[in-house]
Amino acid sequence: MIVRLPKNLAQTGIYVESVDCPSFEFSRRRFMLETQDDLNAIMSSSAVELMVSQTKSRIDVAALIRRAPSGYVQPTPTQRSLKADTIAAIDDAMQSMRESVEGLMSGTLDMGKAGAAALAARRSLETAPDLFLEVSRLKEKHEETYLHSVAVAGLMGRLAEQLDMDDAMVEEIGRAGILHDLGKLLIPNAILNKPGKLDKAEWRVIRSHPVLGYQRLLELGETSDLILDVCRLHHEALDGSGYPLRLRDDEISLAVRICTVCDVFDALTSVRPYKKAWSSSEAINWMYDQNNLFDRKLVLRLGSLFG
Ligand SMILES: [Fe+2]
Repeated sequence: MIVRLPKNLAQTGIYVESVDCPSFEFSRRRFMLETQDDLNAIMSSSAVELMVSQTKSRIDVAALIRRAPSGYVQPTPTQRSLKADTIAAIDDAMQSMRESVEGLMSGTLDMGKAGAAALAARRSLETAPDLFLEVSRLKEKHEETYLHSVAVAGLMGRLAEQLDMDDAMVEEIGRAGILHDLGKLLIPNAILNKPGKLDKAEWRVIRSHPVLGYQRLLELGETSDLILDVCRLHHEALDGSGYPLRLRDDEISLAVRICTVCDVFDALTSVRPYKKAWSSSEAINWMYDQNNLFDRKLVLRLGSLFG
């Protein structure tokens, strides 16, 4: 986990993710703070605080933070504007999503609640800035994937609420939804945006995105098993016909099943270059009729969100 640390509490042994000081020699560098010289340089900079990785630090960062003045949670102006920009981008995406989905849905989905769930996912990302930035990168690279991720996060959060999961789990599920297609960052746009039919080799590349995303999250090193599983396994199917591991039935966790159902539902109810959007009831009926691809109980629960 990455935390903010007031500059005056910095010590050797902390792992610095960033120093909030654009003109400073350490900006944009990530490093273990080893020497008194580096510590002095940080102290004499204009930075107010540092972003520090708790997991990568050699000393107890939580103990350092406890020495900070109570209520110390305010981000510095640079971080605040960065987050404000990214949050604004997410809000814009949510607005776009609402406008496009409203016209497509024939049912009565409470978009306010779906939005609140995606909001929770957004809030949870504030505590993991690396992941937060990954999301904004995803938006730049591929708007459709980004909107899809926000929509899936909202749906997953609502479905988790329907299943009486507690607030922390709803938030975690929402975050998993935001991140589930992260691997598409690593797929060439020429393939992602190709208007016509994909050939076999191109399909192979597309189908690598769950593993690519999983590997990227592993590299970030701050991700829960639930999020890793959802990212890697969201294209598995109960009958063993999915990918990448061809898991089946109980080998596929509830969180992954929730993602799969919401992922396919959003794809079916969205307009794509090659197809019209299905209504919510058409999508639910089709998914329910598939022989052992999806968790039918979850399909029905998802359908109940649409009245
Ligand atoms: Fe996917």
